[in-house]
Amino acid sequence: MYIVGGTASKTIAKDLAKKLKQPMVDVTIKRFPDNELYVRILDDIDNEDVIIVQTTYPDTNIIELFLLQDALCEAGASAITVVIPYFGYGRQDKKFEEGESISARAIAEHISLHASEVILIDPHKEHVLDFFSVPAFSCSALPQIAKYIKKKDVDLVLAPDKGAMKRAEYVSKMVGCEYDYMEKTRIDGQTVQIKPKKLKADKKRVAIVDDIISTGGTMAKSIKELKKQGAAETSVACTHGLFAGSAIEKLLSSGCDEIIATDTITSEYSKVKTAPDIAKFLLKNQ
Ligand code: R5P
Repeated sequence: MYIVGGTASKTIAKDLAKKLKQPMVDVTIKRFPDNELYVRILDDIDNEDVIIVQTTYPDTNIIELFLLQDALCEAGASAITVVIPYFGYGRQDKKFEEGESISARAIAEHISLHASEVILIDPHKEHVLDFFSVPAFSCSALPQIAKYIKKKDVDLVLAPDKGAMKRAEYVSKMVGCEYDYMEKTRIDGQTVQIKPKKLKADKKRVAIVDDIISTGGTMAKSIKELKKQGAAETSVACTHGLFAGSAIEKLLSSGCDEIIATDTITSEYSKVKTAPDIAKFLLKNQ
């Protein structure tokens, strides 16, 4: 078996190769003068099983993935496992309004053209797996996130909304503390209160866990409220740190003590590695 790392996910690919004790494929990825991408597989992978690791965000990395898949097919790979650390476009997983594209399905269909199986890390919604026409699985980065949070000695793990509660519950069990979710209550036309549904945050060290941080708005709102309620320390953790626009400033100015993300999207907050969970998943499902 061989491992190929796309530009967006080179580090995860290298970590995975080390964990699985398998070689990396030598690849040239460059741009033509007009900025179009060029991809070439340099090793002989005829009749070999290959794993490609590539996040499909931002857009240019989607094109690179398509070209890598095509090149591997041309080079005679016998099976292609596509590991997508962050599945970009995954949140447009249905038509919210008439006339829209179901973007997650459109991308999944194209990836399926040259894939034997696909593995997504913490997809926003599990049902996007059904958009692939090849076997598709989700693998969670939560065990590694929980490991990191455990070292911080937190008293309470919170989900920023009810939808993320399962994640908070999982992490809290690994950490060995309580969990809850933030609930919004409309007080009047102008005022919405947001606070933990059952538990109190005062004097507690709190970690809020979600799948994605994009604009940072969801987390910043929660932190402000928790600070008002007397939380001693607040940190935020997510699998996919998109940190769009001024997300980081928003989080820091809300009083966030630590920002934690995995390496599915590379940033200075990529403190948690996903390769251990991916390797475990691959070994278990071989
Ligand atoms: C929403 O359902 C997701 O789980 C995240 O809560 C959301 O994407 C976060 O977005 P933002 O950082 O822009 O508030």
